[in-house]
Amino acid sequence: MSGHNNQISKIKYFTTPIFYTNDKPHLGHAHTCFLADFFSKTFKNFGYKVFFATGTDEHGQKIMNTAQNLGITPKQLVDENSQVFKNFMKDFNINYDYFIRTTDDNHKENVLKIWKQLEKNGYLYLGIYKGLYAEKDECFYSIEETKLNDDGQRIAISSNNTVEEMEEECYFFQLSAFKEQLLQFYANHDFTIPSYIKNELVGFVTNLKDLCVSRKIDWGIKIPNTDSTIYVWIDALANYLTIIGGIDNFNQEFWDNSIHIVGKDIVIFHGVYWPAILMALNMSPPKHLLVHGWWLCGNEKMSKSKKNVLDPYHVENKEYLRYYCLHSDLIGHDGNFQLSHMINIINNELIGKTFNLYSRVFALISKHYGLGASIQLTKFTDRKNIQELNNKCLIALEKYSPREYISVLIEYSNICNQYIDKEMIWKDLTLEHLNFLLPLMDQILRRSEGVLVETYYKIKSFYKLENSNSDNCTFTLIKLENFFTKMTLEEEILT
Ligand code: MSP
Repeated sequence: MSGHNNQISKIKYFTTPIFYTNDKPHLGHAHTCFLADFFSKTFKNFGYKVFFATGTDEHGQKIMNTAQNLGITPKQLVDENSQVFKNFMKDFNINYDYFIRTTDDNHKENVLKIWKQLEKNGYLYLGIYKGLYAEKDECFYSIEETKLNDDGQRIAISSNNTVEEMEEECYFFQLSAFKEQLLQFYANHDFTIPSYIKNELVGFVTNLKDLCVSRKIDWGIKIPNTDSTIYVWIDALANYLTIIGGIDNFNQEFWDNSIHIVGKDIVIFHGVYWPAILMALNMSPPKHLLVHGWWLCGNEKMSKSKKNVLDPYHVENKEYLRYYCLHSDLIGHDGNFQLSHMINIINNELIGKTFNLYSRVFALISKHYGLGASIQLTKFTDRKNIQELNNKCLIALEKYSPREYISVLIEYSNICNQYIDKEMIWKDLTLEHLNFLLPLMDQILRRSEGVLVETYYKIKSFYKLENSNSDNCTFTLIKLENFFTKMTLEEEILT
């Protein structure tokens, strides 16, 4: 894929959160993956060097208890479900460069090295944790972060998950020691995208307590010479270093350009705990935290326990789901999942404005010239639209805005559609029309690689455009097949 050569030195390291293996993927998981995969493919398309990683979070109380309830071992559960996530990635064209499992040996080694280093640097101490814990979130809560629900049960305000009283001897990480350093870091870096997420971090940090970082449960990474395991979130966060070589040997250029894509529910873990741990290891925090909101259903967060989740496999055309997620992007906001809205976007925008453009123009070419004819686009000198399209796409990409990126593609599809209508090219197709349309349509398609994956390759296979960068290019329509069907209202897609 051609890109701007002057961008070649630019580097990005994208990560998704690693997914809990107590269940199969739902729309929320798919959403994070679509975003990361879009950024990976599209930055690569612009000539960047990109590393994109994802994986599964396999330790902790939640996994242990789920396995117990199913009458299987935790290892059996995570082996099975980790494979389900891998299959999901394959089925949905999520082309990661690395898939991590927290039960991998190299990860366990890395976590233990991190632990030892924290100990050596004097940031771990033994104490008693007496407080509240939500198994579903694998999270400790203060009483102020909880409330009683209508049934008189105590729940976490942020997640609505039930919390239990807990008292345990454990190791603490001296998180409170990093208050000033964290505040300074937020003030001096363009850390969160969108930037206002910073306020939530600052608010949290003003009242910073030390963090319990070990548990007296079996399913986790054993702390040498104790009967405890490392708290699952410390284990999980360390994955971002394991992936690029581990604490002793990580790839510096990837780390310096790391972007963690996360949902808003896990911002404190990534925006407070993780940077503080890295500071305690004398390392720099990640470069950016890219935060998306939730898919809601009837104004409630989609989640398995509420039985209002969309199984991504229930949408017949996977690429339409990808397009709809990228189009909504949820960066900085929540979105209500509405099938009628999705159908509208797919039928009127993706099909109506882009797919129809290719099928109309190619059908006309087939009629006038036939398949296989070489068409010389001799008078092609106006590259203005193409340059503008590339520039606008790159601006949207550097703002990490899939929504804006897609709107640029649509804007240029519209320029072609308006040209077709104004010139009424179906009456008399001339070389001048094709000089205008084909190079621009080719460029729109090239820039759509990370948006439309299979359809991109499909449309590309219909034609050849030789010497596309010169003013003398040759276009050949090789074949033409139907490549889309309109979306219809299917019922019962929520499980
Ligand atoms: N295992 C932790 C992450 C550890 S990363 C070091 C975890 N896993 S998760 O499987 O529960 O969630 C993974 C991602 O899915 C999170 O970013 C979360 O925000 C996202 N989603 C889960 N439900 C969601 C919606 N309803 N909508 C959008 N995304 C949400 O957290």
